[in-house]
Amino acid sequence: MTADISSLTLEQKASLLSGKDFWTTKSIDDAGIPSIVLTDGPHGIRRQDAESDNLGINDSLPSTCFPPAVAVGSSWDSDVAAKVGAAVGREALAFGVSVVLGPGVNIKRSPLCGRNFEYYSEDPLLSGVLGSAHVTALQETGPGASLKHFAANNQETERMRISADVDERTLREIYFPAFERIVTEAQPATVMCSYNKVNGVYASHNKWLLTDVLRSDWGFDGPVVSDWGAVSDRVAGVAAGMDLEMPGSGGGTDQQIVDAVRDGRLTEDQVDDAVRRVLALTALHREATDDLPVDQHHTLAREVAAESIVLLKNQAVLPLRGGQRIAIIGPFAVSPRFQGGGSSHINATRTDSALGELAALAKDRNGTIDYAPGFSLEEPDAALLKDEAVNLARTADTAVIFAGLSEREESEGFDRTGLELPANQVELIRAVAAAAPKTVVVLSNGGVVSLEGWHDDVDAILEGWLLGQAGGGALADVLFGIVNPSGRLAETIPLRLEDNPSWLNFPGEQGHVRYSEGVFVGYRYYTTAGVKVRYPFGHGLSYTTFDTSNVEVDTLSDDSVTVHATVTNTGDRPGKHVVQVYVATTAGPVRRPLRELRAFTKISLAPGESKQVALTLGRRAFAYWDIELGRWVVPAGTYAVQLCSDASTVLAEQDITLAGDSIIRELTLDSTVGDWFAHPTVGPALMAGLSASMSEEQAQQAQENPDQLKMVESMPMQQFLAFTNGAFPPEALQSLMELSRKEPAA
Ligand code: BGC
Repeated sequence: MTADISSLTLEQKASLLSGKDFWTTKSIDDAGIPSIVLTDGPHGIRRQDAESDNLGINDSLPSTCFPPAVAVGSSWDSDVAAKVGAAVGREALAFGVSVVLGPGVNIKRSPLCGRNFEYYSEDPLLSGVLGSAHVTALQETGPGASLKHFAANNQETERMRISADVDERTLREIYFPAFERIVTEAQPATVMCSYNKVNGVYASHNKWLLTDVLRSDWGFDGPVVSDWGAVSDRVAGVAAGMDLEMPGSGGGTDQQIVDAVRDGRLTEDQVDDAVRRVLALTALHREATDDLPVDQHHTLAREVAAESIVLLKNQAVLPLRGGQRIAIIGPFAVSPRFQGGGSSHINATRTDSALGELAALAKDRNGTIDYAPGFSLEEPDAALLKDEAVNLARTADTAVIFAGLSEREESEGFDRTGLELPANQVELIRAVAAAAPKTVVVLSNGGVVSLEGWHDDVDAILEGWLLGQAGGGALADVLFGIVNPSGRLAETIPLRLEDNPSWLNFPGEQGHVRYSEGVFVGYRYYTTAGVKVRYPFGHGLSYTTFDTSNVEVDTLSDDSVTVHATVTNTGDRPGKHVVQVYVATTAGPVRRPLRELRAFTKISLAPGESKQVALTLGRRAFAYWDIELGRWVVPAGTYAVQLCSDASTVLAEQDITLAGDSIIRELTLDSTVGDWFAHPTVGPALMAGLSASMSEEQAQQAQENPDQLKMVESMPMQQFLAFTNGAFPPEALQSLMELSRKEPAA
């Protein structure tokens, strides 16, 4: 039931536009308006019942910590995202939570962003598909989701005041599409605006962002919620479409809204619109069910974590065989790092240690496990630990080192300054690899770490990211081959930090961060510029092998295509394969990345089994955002549709030709001479007029020196006229400009 707002006073209405406290909205009992609970998210429920904070400082009630987005992103599997979303939704019901804050779908612009563990990918399609599956599944259980942080919140440094200076094409093609897809496909209950400014205007009062793009272009009809404490100018915020301020402001900003209506800076209609949207949320009000399926969700957390692990390198060492002596090294094997710091921090119901899980599996397989810490996170100079681990490794068949970053090194609130693992860990890895017959490194990290300096010394590397509370069990399952790894990198692992396209402009200076790399984010840059990387976006190995054949692309009339292929499991184990479809083109007037991910799917195959896949690419897969026309344009031209094993490796491709949009741009005196001559109707008319006004000698000269036109092609018509001795009378040009306007833009 939604309350009738005509019975509310202006003061009551304004009061509904900010929270009561940290996690709840205000109720008005007489009007039948209940309070609702909003809380973090995204990979578990952080329900606090005592001291409240949004930095994860104070504990919350125990709930299941599922794998954070960095892991889910690497699953490349919308079923995994949906399973996590549904389980988080169910736990929200247990705690009486109406809105779960998340998922975060900001793009990993730099590997240094302290919050990359909470984001899916450097690619907008992957982020959008996974986020959409999460939101849909979560909302099907009852509660709402709050899609965050809108927009261009790609770093933690100065996150509350930095201006992300980003051109519109880049916003539309890279930083917006995940939000756009989720808004249009999954209708999240709310969208959370970010702390930062976008092109100089705080997101929390940015009308272009919150009304023109989010509501008018994408049709979002729910309320926008502020990130916690993001309100910059409350009155401007209401006018811009920022409806609910969280947490509560103690009533101060409510009064500002009332005053603004009284003195005419806001209309009451604007307030009513915001109130209506906030009230629609109260339909999500629920009492806690207290029904937390602890065991079932722990099992699910293990299953989805295993789907997210990426096998980066494997030289005939994994899966571990039975009957072996295995040396387990590194404190992360005992006290796993499985989630990030800050507002998403979950008080997990339990945690699996990899050591415990591996010991159980090894025992069943007549093997033995010994453990040595090898390094200390607290005392980097503990050399004795290293010697002990090396001695253990020497007597083992295989050494498995659990290395990674501690929470001190990456968290919400600050960015990293480098990609390296701590020096004592690198030293240990090298020393163990020199002593052990075989060495495997298992990584735990929220953002990409450098593999340089030790990659070639070891036999296998398993990228475990942050895997949630059951990550230890999931790693054991993959190490022993109970689960065949099927994760793929959602983010490139570069050779050097300096190779990253944002490097020169991250994290910005003097209040501004310029996204000068434009659309060339992550693999879009590395592949286009031919910069070598350690492992490309999309990379990931399996214990089996796959073959892709019979690739065929059908072009449909509306500039969309269907890609068909046959995938066969050519090995002797069941496994999952990610089919990745990219589009490569140089069509159109703007610089395009070498290739862009446009469709993907994950399929499961028994040994020897073949499956047909068919993936449809809509016209957007071929479009760029045209800043002059303010819309998506598919340029006529040739497009290569490529099936790839990762962003750098094409398995098969087919060229297609698209008719594209017929774009006829209006001519002005600022249009170039080239534009005038290239115009389909004006060009020939102009040429005819020009030829008629030329002497025979001039005409012959023009024919003999075609380069003369090239020299003036880029001159605006206005400037060109000065050189033409009145050959183009103003009235003639005027009528040609009118002619150009008449042309219908298809
Ligand atoms: C974070 C949000 C979070 C909110 C509430 C903010 O600091 O940026 O992601 O949802 O706090 O905890």
